[in-house]
Amino acid sequence: MNKLKLINKLHHSTKRNYLKRMTDNKIHCMKIAKKYEFDYWDGNRKYGYGGYKFIPGRWTPIAKKLIKHFKLNNNSKILDAGCGKGYLLYEIKQILPNIKIVGFDISRYGIKNSHPKIKKYLFNHDINQKTKFKNKEFDLVISLGCLHNLKIHNLIKTIKEIVRIGKKNYIMVESYRNDKELFNLQCWALTCQSFFSDDQWIWILKSSGFKGSYEFIHFK
Ligand SMILES: C[S@@+](CC[C@H](N)C(=O)[O-])C[C@H]1O[C@@H](n2cnc3c(N)ncnc32)[C@H](O)[C@@H]1O
Repeated sequence: MNKLKLINKLHHSTKRNYLKRMTDNKIHCMKIAKKYEFDYWDGNRKYGYGGYKFIPGRWTPIAKKLIKHFKLNNNSKILDAGCGKGYLLYEIKQILPNIKIVGFDISRYGIKNSHPKIKKYLFNHDINQKTKFKNKEFDLVISLGCLHNLKIHNLIKTIKEIVRIGKKNYIMVESYRNDKELFNLQCWALTCQSFFSDDQWIWILKSSGFKGSYEFIHFK
């Protein structure tokens, strides 16, 4: 396994008021967020992103780093599991126009409102369920910010499925390194079900036969 730092910079560029979120009717907000509908993406910030619009270039540096690190080219085939609105896949395809991209997400609103140029490559699917893909069908399977939303009993089988269908894999999840980061994560998270520290995530990944790349984001 190897540790990557592709998303960290983007993650830390956002300001977060942890205590305000914790005390702003949070249980209600969690229930709304977990539907992954309009409110989660484009509603009030207390329900999720607070307006997740396409910003040209925002994902370009990450797309470039991903292409370089995983040596992707126009013959590659890549899956984004929990792709949301598919902005990263869009940016990858801008750079490599003939790459085969596939994305899925549980959110009907996310897929419906994905970038129009790549919508045809995306579909609705719950990552807890086995996929229709063949063994090692993809050169790379990525899953960014999705797996911590699963419950522990589904986590290991889902990681095994990612391992089964991808020659290479890259997983990014929310994590913590100390009590402060655990507290901040517990304040901030609306949809997270798996609150684990770095060493616990590494244990889970290893126990699932994962040998790919991983990244943790923290709430400092
Ligand atoms: C923090 S967002 C990240 C979206 C995207 N990967 C990105 O980086 O912009 C978490 C995503 O996980 C998706 N998700 C949550 N549970 C899921 C599930 N069971 N199956 C598939 N997608 C799921 C949500 O709909 C959402 O798009």
